[in-house]
Amino acid sequence: MIKNVKSLTSKAACLLGLSMITAVSLTPMTAEAQVTFRNATTGDVIDFSFGKKGEETEAVKHFMETAENLYNQDEEAITIGQDLYMTACSGCHGHHVEGKLGPALGDAYWTYPAGRYDKGFFEIIYDGARAMMGPQRNNLSIDEILQVMAYVRSVYWDEPEKALWLPEEERAKLVPAEMPAEFKEALENFNKTH
Ligand code: HEC
Repeated sequence: MIKNVKSLTSKAACLLGLSMITAVSLTPMTAEAQVTFRNATTGDVIDFSFGKKGEETEAVKHFMETAENLYNQDEEAITIGQDLYMTACSGCHGHHVEGKLGPALGDAYWTYPAGRYDKGFFEIIYDGARAMMGPQRNNLSIDEILQVMAYVRSVYWDEPEKALWLPEEERAKLVPAEMPAEFKEALENFNKTH
């Protein structure tokens, strides 16, 4: 009788142990990338072992595993992202994302077409592109980069069907932001001369 109880208990402990092992092995280790992120120009796998340390938020974990930005359309993150953009990016990309030394980021034209998806967008910002577009990983944590990205996506003014970072069913519902006056002017001048 006692023996049976014992063996039952040890069976339960064993099952519990097993389920714990399964749970552990299914849980991703910290922010270890599940998606392979690569440098936008060289294709080298990005090393995440250095760069500005930041909080490993739910958004960071989710992005490392899926390359989906949970901050898209999140008003609070967009507001913080706008502040960060003003400090870290506006000097080169313009105060209204209209382009200056670096290209406009709110239209559907991309030098690096992969940037139309959030994975590619992140890779350019985190690890840099050419010339003046240096890696931002020492300036901004991953969480901050995701907030900047959400802000930039929120001011997209081009055709909804080209908003490729959004799931297909959400593109149709997108109401584009207003085109910044500076971009409109540059576009009109361009059209006059071409
Ligand atoms: C010192 C100037 C400078 C700063 C600061 C800067 N950029 Fe850039 N950025 C550039 C230049 C120049 C390019 C074009 C590089 C190229 O074509 O390889 C560029 C390219 C890009 C691209 C690729 C655009 C495309 O059409 O493919 C993205 C995305 C981008 N920058 C985002 C950002 C964000 C977000 C920030 C702030 C966190 C930032 N950049 C800060 C100068 C800058």
